[in-house]
Amino acid sequence: MDLDWQNLGFNIMKTDYNVRCVFKDGKWGKLEASTDDHIPIHIGATCLHYGQQSFEGLKAYRGADDRIRLFRHNENAKRLRRSAKGILLAEVPEELFMEAVEKVVLLNKRFIPPYGTGASLYIRPLLIGTGPEVGVRPAREYTFLIFVMPVGPYFKSGFKPVDMVICRDHDRAAPHGTGHLKVGGNYAASMVSIAEAHKNGFATTVYLDAKEKKYIDECGPANFFGIKENTYVTPRSDSILPSITNMSLQALAGEMGMKVDIRPVPVTELTTFEEAGACGTAAVITSIRKIVDQEMNIVYTFGDGFKPGPVTTRLYETLVGIQNGDLEDSFGWTKILD
Ligand code: PLP
Ligand code: COI
Repeated sequence: MDLDWQNLGFNIMKTDYNVRCVFKDGKWGKLEASTDDHIPIHIGATCLHYGQQSFEGLKAYRGADDRIRLFRHNENAKRLRRSAKGILLAEVPEELFMEAVEKVVLLNKRFIPPYGTGASLYIRPLLIGTGPEVGVRPAREYTFLIFVMPVGPYFKSGFKPVDMVICRDHDRAAPHGTGHLKVGGNYAASMVSIAEAHKNGFATTVYLDAKEKKYIDECGPANFFGIKENTYVTPRSDSILPSITNMSLQALAGEMGMKVDIRPVPVTELTTFEEAGACGTAAVITSIRKIVDQEMNIVYTFGDGFKPGPVTTRLYETLVGIQNGDLEDSFGWTKILD
């Protein structure tokens, strides 16, 4: 495959196959492969009208040994089930989820970026209500599908420090809403503020808790973490997405002899962090140079502003090293596919 692997960005690209499965009459049908990037859909489908949908995001990596590795795809399977429960979608059994991920990756092997390019294969599972309803109630039919594409870094700078802006005039999610689920409505709610952030030269927005506007929630499509006094600090909040990357970094920080502190993180605490970063599948670890609070007229800066700090760098190298097979996977997080 002749692609400019080093300069991919995070964009839709047609690959060879997607996989699909339909839930009808109370049960899941056969998992099928398709070369078509479109789906025929009823104009009354609940995903179109009432946002009855959930998605996932994970990656496949090619190692120096040329083998293909998946990272914790069982956790994505569990999270999709939690999202399904939260908005009454038909639940995808974890075995079906993992079978579908493995199948679609192997069918698109030639799109898995070579080792050393910094790129990977992004895997996007999607579960949508395809049965028609006009009253606000769950569909009786669902489609579960997965497509893939090779991607580079989500934030253009990659691992290099970015600037973010605190969002005070929009909320991504309410305290008892759906912020902890991976459902499309949360992302629709974030579009205006993220577009504004981009227009003003920021990589993304930092959302605060919707109730008090006092605590950090998360950073666009990634969780926040801060480092100080040998401690990995990350917000506990009911309205953020529990990130599998964050969960992994907590374990790695613990293994490195750091304390791990998961609790509400007041915005004012930003002055005390030696390093700060955003983490997620797409974002991997993106270090933060500064966070601007325009309304309060405060700029929080981290590190020397040019390169990621030593702890962030170590966490990044360890995480990526496990994902692509350079480092021993003592946690049993990866699954080798071939
Ligand atoms: N927060 C939000 C809102 C996200 O969309 C994502 C991406 O999935 C994350 C955090 C990071 O989660 P994960 O590490 O599981 O990809
Ligand atoms: C991911 O990190 O996989 C995500 O889902 C982020 C995405 C919304 C760009």
